[in-house]
Amino acid sequence: MSRYRSARCSQNSFERRMRSQDSLGLAGLKAIFVVLLLGVLALPSSVLAQTPLDDPVELGKKLYGENCAVCHGLDGQGRVGARLAKNWPSLRPDRAIASIIANGIPGSAMPAWSQAKGGPLRDEEIEAIVAYILTWESGGPRVLPPTPTPVPRPPLTPPPDVKGDPNRGALLYDQNCAVCHGANLEGRVGATLAKNWPSIRPDQSLRNVIANGIEGSAMPAWSQANGGPLSEAEIDDLVAFILSQAKPVESFRPTPTPPFQPSWLSGWGGVVLTVVLFLLIVSGALIYQARSNRGKPLGP
Ligand code: HEC
Ligand code: HEC
Repeated sequence: MSRYRSARCSQNSFERRMRSQDSLGLAGLKAIFVVLLLGVLALPSSVLAQTPLDDPVELGKKLYGENCAVCHGLDGQGRVGARLAKNWPSLRPDRAIASIIANGIPGSAMPAWSQAKGGPLRDEEIEAIVAYILTWESGGPRVLPPTPTPVPRPPLTPPPDVKGDPNRGALLYDQNCAVCHGANLEGRVGATLAKNWPSIRPDQSLRNVIANGIEGSAMPAWSQANGGPLSEAEIDDLVAFILSQAKPVESFRPTPTPPFQPSWLSGWGGVVLTVVLFLLIVSGALIYQARSNRGKPLGP
């Protein structure tokens, strides 16, 4: 009896458990349904419209067409604005371009686009445009030749009238420039830098080249303003170093012209020649005298 009751009892509790599990399952289903519904309602319209703008290049293309093509041309060939379909002379072209877009170019028609500067574009939108612009770069990845081992240098004295420190410049040179310009500035991929700088203010022209690079060549722009790694002070140091390595200018000093003196007349050769000449003349005179004496009629 007690066994039977306990069996019924356990059956009851089993049914009760089943029922409660049932209602739990229903509640779960309902919850899932609500979440799904909310999710669908909350989906951004762009996804529903099937535009895959999570690809930055696609987004950049769209934004470029809306904002930039008017001045730079749909294909980046340039119109009112500069040509953008090119190879950028910068070690970090992405940073350089992003900075230009964000800040604009003062004094030109190129406006600032970042919201920080009162423009319409968010930072990630600017990055997307940069990604799109960089698809126009040709030439693939930039491969640098291996760096030559740095040469130990004696302490350098700064050239006159130059702000930077050539010793710090030497270190910066080894780290950044030797790879292309050679350990001794003799030139490798890049031009030789051990030369005289034909400029009234060589420090300024050097600064300018280092900061901005040389467009259309492998010489990148190094200033932070151009997306490069070097501060203004570091560029000054480099300028001081390069100028300290310039070949000394050979000033033109007129030397007195030596008097003309054929080498065979100098030294013993000259003495012998003079003696020989003297003997020739004397013997010639003697022969002449002897002949003319012979031709004279003898006697009165
Ligand atoms: C109203 C015309 C105009 C619009 C719109 C415009 N730009 Fe410019 N942009 C210019 C001009 C002009 C220059 C060249 C300025 C100079 O160097 O004097 C320039 C220069 C640039 C440069 C530098 C080029 C170089 O060789 O250094 C970049 C990068 C650039 N624009 C990107 C953009 C992007 C991206 C947009 C759209 C978000 C845009 N621009 C919209 C006029 C415009
Ligand atoms: C990836 C290679 C490369 C690197 C790295 C490089 N340069 Fe250059 N550099 C060049 C090339 C190539 C030229 C010649 C460009 C031309 O005239 O067409 C050049 C030219 C120059 C010139 C102008 C030379 C002249 O006769 O007018 C200077 C100055 C210069 N580089 C300095 C530097 C300095 C300083 C560094 C390091 C911060 C550096 N370069 C790093 C490749 C490089």
